[in-house]
Amino acid sequence: MACGPPVFYKFMLEKLVKAGFAKDRIFLSLERRMECGIGKCGHCAVGYPFTCLHGPVFSYWDAINLPELIYT
Ligand code: FES
Repeated sequence: MACGPPVFYKFMLEKLVKAGFAKDRIFLSLERRMECGIGKCGHCAVGYPFTCLHGPVFSYWDAINLPELIYT
């Protein structure tokens, strides 16, 4: 489980995968996108998911399929 800025995720994810952690067993907390926290403002929307409603914790596997979750 990790929480941090996007630049941290980039390097941390590479190291964890290289160390043998499965992508569905690595979890990222992405509440930095949130403002209202109740699905009203739309600020946290990434594609169809709303970070506040569908997260804020996502697996790395989720992030691979929605790269803008962590890299925007
Ligand atoms: S934080 Fe406002 S919709 Fe998610």
